[in-house]
Amino acid sequence: MALYSEKVMDHFRNPRNIGIIENADGIGEVGNAKCGDIMKIYLKIDNNIITDVKFETFGCGSAIASSSMATEMIKGKSIDDALTLTNKAVAEALDGLPAHKMHCSVLAEEAIKLALKDYYEKNGISYDHSKFPECSCCEH
Ligand code: FES
Repeated sequence: MALYSEKVMDHFRNPRNIGIIENADGIGEVGNAKCGDIMKIYLKIDNNIITDVKFETFGCGSAIASSSMATEMIKGKSIDDALTLTNKAVAEALDGLPAHKMHCSVLAEEAIKLALKDYYEKNGISYDHSKFPECSCCEH
């Protein structure tokens, strides 16, 4: 069996939503201390809806595929929906990741959460801190 699913290869070769958003409403950047890979997510938010999302990922193929899939999964969704996105759901949507690559999908979940937290903080919106657990693998 191939190590990577066709979906992983597709999102790695043709990443969706790659780039940056000027004047983004929220930006989240995480890095994995062990592999040194970095992921940055930019959000445009209007009326609690994520109207646009872009990413820059300096990392492995699984991290690029995870960012691409995760951005597709939150585009057009409400902030509350985006907050429920887990790295497991991202990996499942990619038809799985090898066990030793699951941490790459964690970057996507954490970068999105940090970007939403950034949005709340920039706009002085109070939020439920328990929805933003401490990063497990990044340096923040
Ligand atoms: Fe670093 Fe995949 S190996 S994020």
